[in-house]
Amino acid sequence: MEAIECIKTRMSIRKFKPDLVPNSVLTEIINTAQWSPSYKNSQPWEVVIVSGKKKEELSGILIRLLKEGEAPQPDMPEALSWPPDIAERINETMKKRGALLGVDLNSPEIKKKSKAANFRFYGAPHGIFLFHDSSLNEWSIFDAGLFAQSLMLAAHAHGIGTVPQAFLTDYSFEVKQFLGIQESKRLVLGISIGYPDTENPINTYRTTRVETDKILRWIE
Ligand SMILES: Cc1cc2nc3c(=O)[nH]c(=O)nc-3n(C[C@H](O)[C@H](O)[C@H](O)COP(=O)(O)O)c2cc1C
Repeated sequence: MEAIECIKTRMSIRKFKPDLVPNSVLTEIINTAQWSPSYKNSQPWEVVIVSGKKKEELSGILIRLLKEGEAPQPDMPEALSWPPDIAERINETMKKRGALLGVDLNSPEIKKKSKAANFRFYGAPHGIFLFHDSSLNEWSIFDAGLFAQSLMLAAHAHGIGTVPQAFLTDYSFEVKQFLGIQESKRLVLGISIGYPDTENPINTYRTTRVETDKILRWIE
């Protein structure tokens, strides 16, 4: 797939077919992402892929914590407020996605259901977790973002869907414990990955972008 088409047609997939992606393809996707640039070529990323019974078990732990009302303790805090223009943009996206699904995504009950769907990896056969050492600073978080985007684009080029999920970092302590990752690592992001269920309406929603002239200034 041509690069510009790949970037412009990637979208978050929130319903997957149960079919496993072969390990060789997953390895190729991760290897491609490793070619992302990083600060001083530090390559500050570590990847865990969880599948099968282990993935189900982890889902069960996360859903139990949610049901018990356990407060999320992600390694990177959730943004609690946004500047007004960004808040408006976020609300607009939520409203449009909610309208498509016929639900109010801001209602507490729907929010809980939607978190549970996140914790079920949206039905994906694999969950990817990105970590790095907690001593690393913002530049390494930036690098992790580049790695995540490369990973998602490489997957898309293979006809494989992904969704990046901050929610999968809610219970970082328990995720690390379950995956056998040292507590000193920072859980940066979770990504569900698998073949997209193209029939499901949730995957028909395409987000929009602000007009380029609103974010671009020319100084000549
Ligand atoms: C850092 C990050 C965290 C995200 N966390 C979640 C999440 O927890 N759950 C979810 O369903 N989508 C999550 N998303 C997906 C965004 O909602 C999505 O990228 C955005 O609405 C734009 O849509 P698109 O990916 O289809 O272009 C996240 C995206 C990013 C980049």
